[in-house]
Amino acid sequence: MSIALFYGTTTGNTGDVAEKVQLHLENIELFDVADSPLNIIENYQQIIFAIPTWDYGEVQEDWQEVWDEVDTLDFTGKTVAFIGLGDQYGYAEWFLDAMGMLHDKVVAKGASIVGHWPTDSYEFDESKALTADKKFFIGLAIDDDCQNELSDERIEQWCEQVSLEFG
Ligand SMILES: Cc1cc2nc3c(=O)[nH]c(=O)nc-3n(C[C@H](O)[C@H](O)[C@H](O)COP(=O)(O)O)c2cc1C
Repeated sequence: MSIALFYGTTTGNTGDVAEKVQLHLENIELFDVADSPLNIIENYQQIIFAIPTWDYGEVQEDWQEVWDEVDTLDFTGKTVAFIGLGDQYGYAEWFLDAMGMLHDKVVAKGASIVGHWPTDSYEFDESKALTADKKFFIGLAIDDDCQNELSDERIEQWCEQVSLEFG
């Protein structure tokens, strides 16, 4: 079964992460939300959404364009994992907020979620991308601004985890 990875990117970081994820997961196809219709996901049971946060807790601009459309999709029977990009020191009150906001929409439309990720190695004040017990992010947290040196290892470990969780 194939995995669809949808990403949006303004300065290229999330696009780079998507390409690295592709190296670690089999049968994965990449789609840039800027030029791929979101309803492609109807053909996939396993989906990854990758989204950076911009402008003090806002959704990245290409995701913004399809934001309302997400609510029209049916995620029943689908398993979804998230990747968020942000800057924990520069935007500590809004770290990865967009990932959390997208997660909440997708859960409301019936998706099962995998790929939770521990918060231990990050420093931030607030985030909308936390699980209810606040011990995990709801998806992989990548900070190429402040912890670029950790990104490759985080991506590799998370891919191992989600490939088991996708089953
Ligand atoms: C003007 C500006 C605003 C930003 N706002 C946030 C924010 O509110 N929260 C956050 O976690 N990261 C924030 N970031 C960091 C970006 O999410 C980060 O640089 C990310 O890697 C960009 O991804 P992209 O290159 O795929 O667009 C901001 C960056 C800039 C330059």
